[in-house]
Amino acid sequence: MSKLRNDRLLRALRRKPVDCTPVWIMRQAGRYLPEYRETRKQAGDFLTLCKTPELACEVTLQPLRRFDLDAAIVFSDILTIPDAMGLGLSVNEGEGPRFERAIDSKTAIDALRVPELEDDLGYVFDAVRMIHHVLDGSVPLIGFAGSPWTLATYMVEGQSTRDFARIKALMFEQPQALHALLDILTESVSGYLAAQVKAGADVLMIFDTWGGVLSHTEYREFSLSAMRRSVEALKSDEMTRHIPVILFTKGGGQWFKEMADSGCDALGCDWTTSLAIARDTVGKRVALQGNLDPAVLYASPDVIERAVESVLDDFGAGDGHVFNLGHGITPGVNPDHVRVMVDAVHQKSARS
Ligand code: CP3
Repeated sequence: MSKLRNDRLLRALRRKPVDCTPVWIMRQAGRYLPEYRETRKQAGDFLTLCKTPELACEVTLQPLRRFDLDAAIVFSDILTIPDAMGLGLSVNEGEGPRFERAIDSKTAIDALRVPELEDDLGYVFDAVRMIHHVLDGSVPLIGFAGSPWTLATYMVEGQSTRDFARIKALMFEQPQALHALLDILTESVSGYLAAQVKAGADVLMIFDTWGGVLSHTEYREFSLSAMRRSVEALKSDEMTRHIPVILFTKGGGQWFKEMADSGCDALGCDWTTSLAIARDTVGKRVALQGNLDPAVLYASPDVIERAVESVLDDFGAGDGHVFNLGHGITPGVNPDHVRVMVDAVHQKSARS
């Protein structure tokens, strides 16, 4: 059914046999690559890079020119949706993202609208179309969005945070207001992901970077339920139902059973959870993606090779593994070490 020349990722996500384990890297296009830093300088700033399809296409392809990766991921950011809602996003070097108009009241939530996809986010779909065209079926293209909860944390905090004070105060004091915000975001995320598929994405991933800061019961109510509704919307639409969906909650290992029940196809696993234990928990319902500690890439090549082997051994024999880091690659990593990791995954997992 797929016309891709390399369909390892799609096969692994559907838990079908592969010749070797597919590998891609969260944040594979980014600051650890000198050519990325060069293109970013040329663009002037991060958001211009995201909003210029030719440049977004160029940086998407940069890691694929260097490494034998089994997928491309659209170069963009999870914060495009709140930006399109008019919150005034800026991303400054060394400071991270910041919103000029953070959400500070129920009134501000009531004033929010689901973005007009083509008018407000058309640059993302233009980039997807361009990347899809240039890839020309060589590897699958992953589209993505932030989870509604994770987007809400940035919208309410206005910037990166350590203690989540504002979003948690809203959650405890005005849960209905937070639910109203999550409802708007859920609808936005589903529409945004479907539009990426229409533009050429072959796989979708939802990044729930901050689900793991919630308690057991709050995770279900404020993070998982919204992701489940987004997955249900994708799986009930004729155009998107066949597209594999990966859910990644950082720190979410203890909720894998419930996450696997969401109707998604795969779960992203950070390095704190054993793939073997995760596999016991989810059985054959979903594939697993992960989970090398990103910091291993600071070690020497022989240490990296052994660590790759230990992740492959932890998953064990059988289908349904996509190799990845347990979270995004960090800016200080030596690109040569990435090559060691990618090649080790293919060599050590090759099926005879
Ligand atoms: O994976 C890829 O190669 C695609 C690109 C991608 C970016 N952001 C580019 C980016 C993806 C998938 C994201 C997702 C994203 N953005 C997440 C979820 C993934 C995760 O790591 O948990 C989050 C939480 C964000 C929000 C965000 N954007 C932050 C916190 C920051 C600043 C801190 C940081 O890591 O750099 C950004 C900016 C950003 N997004 C950069 C890149 C390459 C760095 C910008 C720069 O060039 O200075």
